[in-house]
Amino acid sequence: MSVKVPRGTQDILPGQSEKWQYIESIAKDVCRRYHYKEIRTPIFEHTELFTRSVGDTTDIVQKEMYTFEDRGERSLTLRPEGTAAVVRSFVENKMFGIPDQPTKLFYTGPMFRYERPQSGRYRQFVQFGVEAIGSEDPAIDAEVIALIMDIYKSAGLKKLNLVINSLGDAESRNAHREALIAHFEPRIDEFCTDCQTRLAKNPLRILDCKKDRDHELMATAPSILDYLNDESKAYFAKVTSYLDAIGIAYTIDPKLVRGLDYYNHTAFEVMSEAEGFGAITTLCGGGRYNGLVQDLGGPESPGIGFAFSIERFIAAMEAERIEWPVDNGLDCFIVALGIEAKDHSVALVHELRTAGFSADRDYQDRKMKAQLKASDRQKARFTAILGEDELAENRITVKDMAEGSQDNVLLSELTDYLKTKMEAK
Ligand code: HAM
Repeated sequence: MSVKVPRGTQDILPGQSEKWQYIESIAKDVCRRYHYKEIRTPIFEHTELFTRSVGDTTDIVQKEMYTFEDRGERSLTLRPEGTAAVVRSFVENKMFGIPDQPTKLFYTGPMFRYERPQSGRYRQFVQFGVEAIGSEDPAIDAEVIALIMDIYKSAGLKKLNLVINSLGDAESRNAHREALIAHFEPRIDEFCTDCQTRLAKNPLRILDCKKDRDHELMATAPSILDYLNDESKAYFAKVTSYLDAIGIAYTIDPKLVRGLDYYNHTAFEVMSEAEGFGAITTLCGGGRYNGLVQDLGGPESPGIGFAFSIERFIAAMEAERIEWPVDNGLDCFIVALGIEAKDHSVALVHELRTAGFSADRDYQDRKMKAQLKASDRQKARFTAILGEDELAENRITVKDMAEGSQDNVLLSELTDYLKTKMEAK
């Protein structure tokens, strides 16, 4: 029996991988403009990092982590998300000591969650995220939101809905928590066992329960916006006023709570409104996490960030039928005929590549016709044909595939000839 790719994972093959590179390059370029620098952290971390940050009553920690014991009997977990590790690194590397704050970071890489696979939901997926740690200026909230919207816009996505909410500060959240307990407690036995435990530990988590989402008490649950204290209200008003000032449209949804525990104040998601996008419409999620740096042993350093998965980004591009950049193919394919010409083409293809061209040759000992077909399939701009007679004269025939013209060129002048021809385009 052949071994298959594990459930919920996928191979990204040539033809698809270019889409990934394209999105990553757009996102990295937008990060450059907003002055965010790349951070790379390990793919696994101590399990405790996630229980302490993402929260031990969340679905991620309770049901979705790939946790294992290594040979030294340490409990390790394949990262389910990126924020916890970035904050750990911020503390461990004392980035709070850098004079210019916030520290503005971006990251990309695989994340792992043991979820039920469906369209847009994988067990291994690639997130691209940013974190700005060390400032509580509401302008940074607006900046982070502007950054993600800029990434989508740069890729050509239009059918988007930016949804924002405020989860308030600790005082507001406590008041809301009490209201949630009073709301759900009388009928908590109608809810799943997870929600019953959540009631006392973390009633906010009931609101994003996947099993009980249609219970009538969900729709009438107290809204956090009614429990914001004056400071939290003022903070949220400032964030939205900045968004207005930079012309970013948004919808306020008091029901948006996010599925991770570290959030407070600003929370947001970007949804796809493209027809046929599928059931899961969230493209990106993020928010503020003041207090997380302290929870992980650092000094007070308020943070905010977001992450999106490339998988859902690609799905949104396809749902909106946005064209991908065309594959330009090879610069030059060398067709060699006869043993000596084939031997010579080894050095020739190397010379072209060293000079900066993308170049390839035949490795299947094929006849001229088959090699020419291969050159066509590789979308070569030029096909350079080297026969025995030509080699004897130190020359090569170069066909311009777009124009249909051809020239006989001295082998020693091939790179210069190609350079001139390509520059003229
Ligand atoms: P999250 O909402 O758990 O937040 O995930 C962010 C994004 O990752 C989602 O909006 C979605 O695009 C993608 N995603 C999540 N799970 C899957 C999956 N199973 N398959 C495909 N894509 C998925 C976080 O992870 C936070 N760390 C975001 C953040 C950064 N908040 C502050 N800073």
